[in-house]
Amino acid sequence: MNHSPINDLSTVLDWVRWSSSEFRRAELFYGHGTENDWEEALLFVLWAIQQPWERLDQLWQAALTAEEKARLFDAVSQRIERRCPAAYLTGEAWFAGLRFAVNEHVLVPRSPFAELIANGFQPWLKSEPQHILDLCTGSGCIGIACAYAFDEARVDLSDISAEAVAVAEQNIALHGLSDRVTVTESDGFQNLEGRQYDLIVSNPPYVSEAEYAALPEEYLREPKLGLTSGDDGFDFVEMLLARAADFLSEDGLLLVEVGHGWQACEARFPQYPFFWPEFEHGGCGIFILSREQLLAASQR
Ligand SMILES: C[S@@+](CC[C@H](N)C(=O)[O-])C[C@H]1O[C@@H](n2cnc3c(N)ncnc32)[C@H](O)[C@@H]1O
Repeated sequence: MNHSPINDLSTVLDWVRWSSSEFRRAELFYGHGTENDWEEALLFVLWAIQQPWERLDQLWQAALTAEEKARLFDAVSQRIERRCPAAYLTGEAWFAGLRFAVNEHVLVPRSPFAELIANGFQPWLKSEPQHILDLCTGSGCIGIACAYAFDEARVDLSDISAEAVAVAEQNIALHGLSDRVTVTESDGFQNLEGRQYDLIVSNPPYVSEAEYAALPEEYLREPKLGLTSGDDGFDFVEMLLARAADFLSEDGLLLVEVGHGWQACEARFPQYPFFWPEFEHGGCGIFILSREQLLAASQR
């Protein structure tokens, strides 16, 4: 950005309007928590002045301080120049109504798992789960939201990336859950041998190399390890389907997100009777399988 508007702009409304115009001119892509330039601009301005969305009505005419303007100008410039998702610049993201710390080592939380968690996984769960595993946890968002939904449950988070494990640890502390949520660095189930879960949830990498090559630049700022898994994207899912039954209790359930690849998943693994719940608030492609179904399919 060549010309700094710091001396021309004063109020929240001025800055939201200017930021959104800059975003439009730059033709940014919105896929990380906001849907358009205006929402994205609001997110940055409220972050810069450290105010919650609920107060927005009272804030439109409030003036920004010089320090707030400088912080905002820098973030908006980076959003445009580096095509960096907003969450990496603000250091925070929201999932299931909860705030999570994020950095460029974890994906920005955005899974439709939030809706299943809000509904307590009903009607699929027969009883309150005692032990839950969030495999491929990234920031820890899915497992930590599960810990809020089931306040007696012990929750294990796990990820292959040491940097992601550090972010998940930070979020466990942020939510004061270290008495019953723990995180393990592990490649798949490798360091989890011998454990049993009533519920395994996973948003693993599932993007094919061809899809990855066509993604908007914003997604390339996220760790590739969190997105791709083999040429067709299904390497991790294949391992999960083969091994999950060993880690599930008798009535245990496996829930895995594969997003828009759900039809390709059915074609790739025809022996599994996948059930795909529908979502009221957007998103698709989470399958549910019971331990029983996994065992039966493995014998086919
Ligand atoms: C799609 S991201 C999901 C992160 C988080 N669950 C979320 O919804 O925001 C997938 C995560 O899987 C992790 N991962 C990739 N390969 C793995 C493996 N072999 N074992 C464990 N975790 C793996 C990545 O480090 C990344 O954090």
